[in-house]
Amino acid sequence: MDRLTLRRPDDWHLHLRDGEMLRAVTPETARHFGRAIIMPNLVPPVVRGAEAAAYRDRILAAIPESADFKPLMTLYLTEDTDPADLVAAHRDGIITAVKLYPAGATTNSASGVRNFDKVRPVLEAMAEAGIPLCTHGEVVDSHVDIFDREAVFIDTVLDPLRRNTPGLRVVMEHITTSQGVDYARSGGEDLGATITTHHLVINRNAILVGGIKPHYYCLPVAKREEHRLALREAATSGDACFFLGTDSAPHLDHLKENACGCAGCFTATNTMSILAEVFEQDGALDKLEGFASLNGPRFYRLPPNESQIVLEKGAPVDYPAHIDTVEGPVTVFDPMMPLHWRVVE
Ligand code: NCD
Ligand code: ZN
Repeated sequence: MDRLTLRRPDDWHLHLRDGEMLRAVTPETARHFGRAIIMPNLVPPVVRGAEAAAYRDRILAAIPESADFKPLMTLYLTEDTDPADLVAAHRDGIITAVKLYPAGATTNSASGVRNFDKVRPVLEAMAEAGIPLCTHGEVVDSHVDIFDREAVFIDTVLDPLRRNTPGLRVVMEHITTSQGVDYARSGGEDLGATITTHHLVINRNAILVGGIKPHYYCLPVAKREEHRLALREAATSGDACFFLGTDSAPHLDHLKENACGCAGCFTATNTMSILAEVFEQDGALDKLEGFASLNGPRFYRLPPNESQIVLEKGAPVDYPAHIDTVEGPVTVFDPMMPLHWRVVE
């Protein structure tokens, strides 16, 4: 098989930033994707419906005329979030979901949640209105090893939170462990999990062997090989609870190649070529459409995209090593293998 036609894919976890960065990276996603869940971790974060509407308009202004792309907005959950504002933003079609960051877990998460009791009324209002909660699933306790933070989050935060809030629809964002895979599978209709492109390709050696490689550093940090293999099995299994959320997270190169480098891999440019390579390696090209184009809309109760994309297999694909922004370059994720599938239409 050397030609693959898919419903246009969606990206269920994406960072577009703002200003010059937004203008530079939005076309990279809008080229292949129909929709994306837009992360709200700007500085300051997007916390009220009116802020999400204004951010949506700045994104719309950065989409090329030729593109067929719709941003799906989120609000950043804080301990001060007003349930009425949030529910109204959802009812009015401004937001699609709400993002939970444990305070301090990742880039721009300082305004996130410390005390989960404080957000209980919001979570209850969300369960009632059917608004999905997207979770950054890592605890931040200093005594918990960074490689264990996802598994501990599932046991000590996520599972109790779901038990305490029946009916709450939850997405485990960017799972990186076999524990994440197992928990997502056990959760029923109200639980989904996104998997990034890069976590299907790298394990923690990519970051640490042969010198420290900041462009492979992201959060949650890549784990052992056995976990990468569990993610590959999940993504290529066809199970409806797993869908693509690239977590493409651009940072200027000088802020990643730094004594305190930022977390995030920028994969918007070559994600579809990488995914086709990965699914082909695992003999699962027939499952790619489910993962990238069907399972996500199903969870979010949206129709799949009407339009299609076509990939063709051939000589190794050329893609830029970095994209330029007015403020400097952003390195494109290097999957450390040749890619043979190119999006042709
Ligand atoms: C993201 C970012 O840069 O905003 N970074 C990352 O490593 N994934 C934040 C996040 O999703 O954790
Ligand atoms: Zn993210």
